[in-house]
Amino acid sequence: MNAPWTSVAADSGNLIPGPSGPFTLNGREPLAAFVSDQASLACVRACLVELGWNSAGCHIGAPDDAVQALATAASPAILIVDLSDCTVPLEEIQALAQVCEPGTQVIAIGQTNDVRLYRALLGSGVHDYLLKPLSEGQLAEVIIGAQAALTAPRPVEAVQASQHSIAAVIGTRGGVGASMLATALAWVSSTDLAQATALLDLDIQFGTGALSLDLDPGRGLIDAIENPSRIDGLFMQRAMIQASNTLSVLAAEAPIAAPAPVEASTLLHLAEELGHACAATVIDFPRAMLPTMAPFLAEVNTVVLATELTLAGARDTIRVLDWLKFHAPHARVVVVANKVPTGLCEIGPGDFEAAIERGIDFMLPFEPRVAIQAAKHGQCFAEADRGGKLGQTLVAIAWAVCAPGEADGQPPAMRTATTLLARWNPLKLMDHLIDQFRKAGPGPTAKSGG
Ligand SMILES: Nc1ncnc2c1ncn2[C@@H]1O[C@H](COP(=O)(O)OP(=O)(O)OP(=O)(O)O)[C@@H](O)[C@H]1O
Ligand SMILES: [Mg+2]
Repeated sequence: MNAPWTSVAADSGNLIPGPSGPFTLNGREPLAAFVSDQASLACVRACLVELGWNSAGCHIGAPDDAVQALATAASPAILIVDLSDCTVPLEEIQALAQVCEPGTQVIAIGQTNDVRLYRALLGSGVHDYLLKPLSEGQLAEVIIGAQAALTAPRPVEAVQASQHSIAAVIGTRGGVGASMLATALAWVSSTDLAQATALLDLDIQFGTGALSLDLDPGRGLIDAIENPSRIDGLFMQRAMIQASNTLSVLAAEAPIAAPAPVEASTLLHLAEELGHACAATVIDFPRAMLPTMAPFLAEVNTVVLATELTLAGARDTIRVLDWLKFHAPHARVVVVANKVPTGLCEIGPGDFEAAIERGIDFMLPFEPRVAIQAAKHGQCFAEADRGGKLGQTLVAIAWAVCAPGEADGQPPAMRTATTLLARWNPLKLMDHLIDQFRKAGPGPTAKSGG
């Protein structure tokens, strides 16, 4: 699965004798259940007896009762909740996610036989959904599946093993510069870091990834979304637009009237194929996709959160950070304040950081001249402002985001480049660039408005 409960999955998912009870699973109570009727309760208990598990954590109750119980107690490894009496089941699941510790596998049960609900529940991180009346055999199968999910390697581990770094750039609000940032990071990754890089623009109707690099997006991404079963190495070769030898773009200009629905499973498939061909993938990830793409976000190493230093920007940064805490708890989050003006900000950096209860990692100045230059020449901002403050900071962000986890600690550029950079430790280079920017700041506003 699986969003709110993924990442702390398991060092050991086996049932082992616990100190006080008969078993623990990953150091927790193995299972708790809150079901709405006696027949379901009897079925859950009988199933647990059959599996040899303790059934003391099974109660008659609604999701609200589960929320109350988990707000003050440790979460079980597996949680069964009954959505039968819920008018908005997804809201109940969200409420649970707020109190449930990461790693819990949630099995929902209910009476609504609707594939859209089923998909939405899986999309929000639920392990499985079972229709009532429950059958012991089916329930046992799902519980064993949940136990197996706890023992499976974490998605992020699989990604790291394949050396493919995936970064999703998300704007907290419209127009904050998320697409500018995604395109620039992909470009720097492909040039300064000299590694095969893909830019995946998921804003399939209004994306600007291809446009800003002066490319025609073609139909590749649309074909992939419409026929996910066709995605393979050969398909990707044809679908990707080559911006250079090391930069490929997968983007679209889908018709406004009939957007193709994007499934999380399609993106997982795409990411897997991109991992075969690229060292880094940068995704322009529209925030409107967050609710349905939680399973995909579990594959992402880094989320770059682009924002502006405004009241609305602060509110939505808090909301997205909160969402990520539960749905992509393993992902490193890098907060980038963009379009920081040289005069007064609506909210100064200090106040902004106090509001979001964490630091801003990078600040990018508002530079309309660079925007004009970039648009005129079909360049990304990093290229249009090479050597400038904005350009240098984009390079620093790309180092932090696209080359953080090489197995031997050496990003590809360091293995092959013959320039002075080749003799530098990449981490030191990154620190140096970050220091340089932080010392300079984006003009008088940096930290002074707070
Ligand atoms: N630091 C900056 N200085 C000047 N202009 C900028 C800066 N960053 C972005 N822009 C400009 O702001 C506009 C919006 O940027 P962009 O399209 O990247 O935002 P977005 O967050 O992707 O928007 P959307 O929500 O529509 O997807 C663009 O015209 C871009 O050139
Ligand atoms: Mg955009």
